Amino acid sequence: MSKRDFLSVDDLSIEELKELLDRAAEVKDKPNKAAETLAGKQVALIFEKPSTRTRVSFEVAVTSMGGHALVLRGDELQIGRGETVSDTGTVLSRFVDCIVIRTFGHDRLLELASAASVPVVNALSDLSHPCQALADMQTIMEQKKDPAGMVLAYVGDGNNVAHSLMFAGTKLGMHVRVATPGGHQPDAVVAERCAQIAAETGGSVVVTTVVAEAVTGADVLYTDVWASMGQEAETERRRSTFQGYSIDRTALDLAADDAIVMHCLPAHRGEEISADAIDGPQSVVWDQAENRMHAQKALLAWLLA
Ligand code: CP
Ligand code: NVA
Repeated sequence: MSKRDFLSVDDLSIEELKELLDRAAEVKDKPNKAAETLAGKQVALIFEKPSTRTRVSFEVAVTSMGGHALVLRGDELQIGRGETVSDTGTVLSRFVDCIVIRTFGHDRLLELASAASVPVVNALSDLSHPCQALADMQTIMEQKKDPAGMVLAYVGDGNNVAHSLMFAGTKLGMHVRVATPGGHQPDAVVAERCAQIAAETGGSVVVTTVVAEAVTGADVLYTDVWASMGQEAETERRRSTFQGYSIDRTALDLAADDAIVMHCLPAHRGEEISADAIDGPQSVVWDQAENRMHAQKALLAWLLA
């Protein structure tokens, strides 16, 4: 059988996504059952951008499943001096059983995956962050049981996190509403594909520039930073463009009374999220962060065991 990669949530069928999320819940409930699943397996974790959660949760996941994690910074590899990602993928496949990579352009990820003979996992690219979306859905299911038919409102930049959330939400039959300033909408191809998925699952996708349209009556309120990694030069401009595209008191008041507040983190209090929202009783961000580890354990077991 050919190897499976996890570069996008859309690499999983609806059934596979649900199965993986069930496994993630099981792994969280009974971590010892996964203890030897990766015995003898070597997993390379390449980071071309900073990371706290992804790096630590993958390293701990691999180690606690009996495998060995090699954390490699892009600037310490030959990749940082111009060796191609495809040569890197070919060579690393001779040593390791799986390559997890956080990089910039999604094309780098595709190039690596097509050269590698072992599974490749997207640990965030400029286009998507599928591992985050697994943990997000696990968290929503813990809080809301069946997400189908629920309203998931994303407010902020139509970025990598938004894209993966749109895929995962529509695959689970959610009504995904995305509010961004003009010019910062999610990728049109992603939005179109998610609309197709939603048509199949009974969900829907709405992209708007009006925050109230997204958050009114929502069951889940989600946001992410206004300036992503690699966009540092745009930070000031974005700070003014994105004013009001926040999860704050106004959004909480418009959402359902039992709405939960989510953020992939790192967060900027006072920008995309207010302190009372992220630190308040409706916030589930710490469970969400913890679930990165459980969901990734389930993913690695599925790809490698
Ligand atoms: N949410 C997330 O991916 O966090 P890190 O950038 O810290 O890995
Ligand atoms: N959109 C953010 C997510 C960080 C986890 C970024 O790409 O920097």
